[in-house]
Amino acid sequence: MSATRRLFFALEIPAAVQQQILHWRAQQFPQETGRPVAAANLHLTLAFLGEVGPRKQQALTTLAGRIRQPGFTLTLDDAGHWPRSRVVWLGPRRAPRGLLQLASLLRAQAERSGCPQGTRPFHPHVTLWRHAQSQVKLPAPGFSWHWEVDAFALYESLFEQGRTRYRALERWSLTQ
Ligand code: 2AM
Repeated sequence: MSATRRLFFALEIPAAVQQQILHWRAQQFPQETGRPVAAANLHLTLAFLGEVGPRKQQALTTLAGRIRQPGFTLTLDDAGHWPRSRVVWLGPRRAPRGLLQLASLLRAQAERSGCPQGTRPFHPHVTLWRHAQSQVKLPAPGFSWHWEVDAFALYESLFEQGRTRYRALERWSLTQ
């Protein structure tokens, strides 16, 4: 049996924005909020693929490489708390059409390739805290980060020395 990898398609967050979010998070939330996601692990998932073998990975990357769509501006100006999954997140108040289009295409391709996408609608978010407390005071509105998204990537989720780390395996440019 060949080895599988835990994979997902996601948008990278520029390193400078990751650092700004980290500083803001430290000011806005008490440490006991939960387990903070490391700066380098901040990302926005487009499609979660699960455990994937090499053949399925190849098929999915071939399909991803055929995607032709322009980039878009992403603004993170909303925050929320999902008590069930114990996640505190940042996201766009209004998701750009380009983001929804890209996620929808990747999710449809994943579904057709045997990676079930579940029934819940896509809710674009960047997880800030995991294992969050049941009560979390969310920051007042007024925060906002934005940047031009010009690529998406296939990531592998690794669990090493008790820590989760994400590694980009391949990247594709967004151009028409
Ligand atoms: P999360 O941050 O909301 O937990 C790597 O684990 C990425 O894939 C994370 O962004 C995570 O979302 C997402 N992910 C993990 N398991 C998932 C699942 N079963 N369905 C959808 N997304 C999942």
